[in-house]
Amino acid sequence: MKLTKYEQEMLDGEHGEMRQKALQVLCDLGEYEGAEEFVEVTLCHSDNAVYMGEAAAAFVEYLGDSGVKLAVPTTTNACSLDMDKWAEQGFEPKIADAIRRMEAAHAKMGAIPTWTCAPYQSCVQPVFGQQIVSAESNVICYYNSVIGARTNRYAGPLELLGGIAGRVPYFGLHVKENRYAEGLVKLSDEIKPEWFNDDSLYALIAYAYGSIVGNRVWAIEGMPKRFRKESLRDFSATAASSGGIALYHMVGVTPEAQTVDMAFNGKRPKEVEEINLKSLCDAEKQLNNPEVKNVDMILLGCPHFSYDDCQQVLRLLDGRRVSENIEVNITVGRDTADRMMDDGIYNELLLSGIKVYKEGCALEIRAKKRGIKTLMSNSGKFGTYSFGLTGIQPVFGSLSECIETAVSGELVREDKPWRE
Ligand code: F3S
Repeated sequence: MKLTKYEQEMLDGEHGEMRQKALQVLCDLGEYEGAEEFVEVTLCHSDNAVYMGEAAAAFVEYLGDSGVKLAVPTTTNACSLDMDKWAEQGFEPKIADAIRRMEAAHAKMGAIPTWTCAPYQSCVQPVFGQQIVSAESNVICYYNSVIGARTNRYAGPLELLGGIAGRVPYFGLHVKENRYAEGLVKLSDEIKPEWFNDDSLYALIAYAYGSIVGNRVWAIEGMPKRFRKESLRDFSATAASSGGIALYHMVGVTPEAQTVDMAFNGKRPKEVEEINLKSLCDAEKQLNNPEVKNVDMILLGCPHFSYDDCQQVLRLLDGRRVSENIEVNITVGRDTADRMMDDGIYNELLLSGIKVYKEGCALEIRAKKRGIKTLMSNSGKFGTYSFGLTGIQPVFGSLSECIETAVSGELVREDKPWRE
């Protein structure tokens, strides 16, 4: 790879041992990917936050103890647990201790302690065209697609090395020419505009889209032009998990696809597919467990709920308490929790019987250990990964269905056009 003078100095160890090691690894990656040079990044999102065993904790501690500072502003992803309420969540002290060590290591490197898998809802986020380095699939998908920032789908340790070196090899989605769509998904006329008032539709369309597209860059046409940003968060998270989507173009919505022509750089789509009523029905069959009659636990916040989501929950509750037969958890990022504590929303949710947890990953629950057999969520990502990670296939429903189930203590399923 062609190196600048500064990069050569880094590789020669003139800017410290850890920056040298980081650049060595990134050079190997660049050569493997056929990159000819590096591109400077100006933001990093670290996914070295969940406790995946001692090796993961030791890696971050090794970096933190070296004295190296991150070269660019770096936010932290969701960790495994609420750092204050981990015992209530059923975590062992050993894991809480490891998370605190990982937190301290990030702090030593100068990371911004967002502790959220929805950093785009926090105080730091990129802008259009910004070169960044990120792990966590929903964040990558949201930053690339909704904001128009540029990152590849990096694996855990690599993004921290990019944050330390302040650069990554210039390949993949960092390069403008690789970001144009190849194929097009059209929404069938069977899917009516008014159906989008149901928040679960975004996850169902995203699931179907991810299943068609895999890890390619495609566009989708026919989505509404007015939306809650949380809907695009849910679309990004589900598409990134049902497929391997790192970038999608939503025509008329996302910034690199204001028109079909723009998404395809004036070329014609190589393939065209359709998402219709049957696609929604099939997607829900994949996400939803029809065997469940009684729900033990409802998990909201995968990705982390926003402040607006929490207000929406209170609106749906309308002064009612949740049933004592069902545990309801909402997971949020650290600064969303701080804001909700300041203005009383956090307490209002607690008084309604909902447990609010911050910082941790909603999927990192000790479900089986706690005797929980059935789960419900409004998240397409949760529905995709739950069985693999918790051994439980959850019920998938809209936020309204989750709240009505929580209040009544019995599974509530509303009539939907895509339900048989
Ligand atoms: Fe966040 Fe965990 Fe879901 S990191 S997106 S809550 S799987």
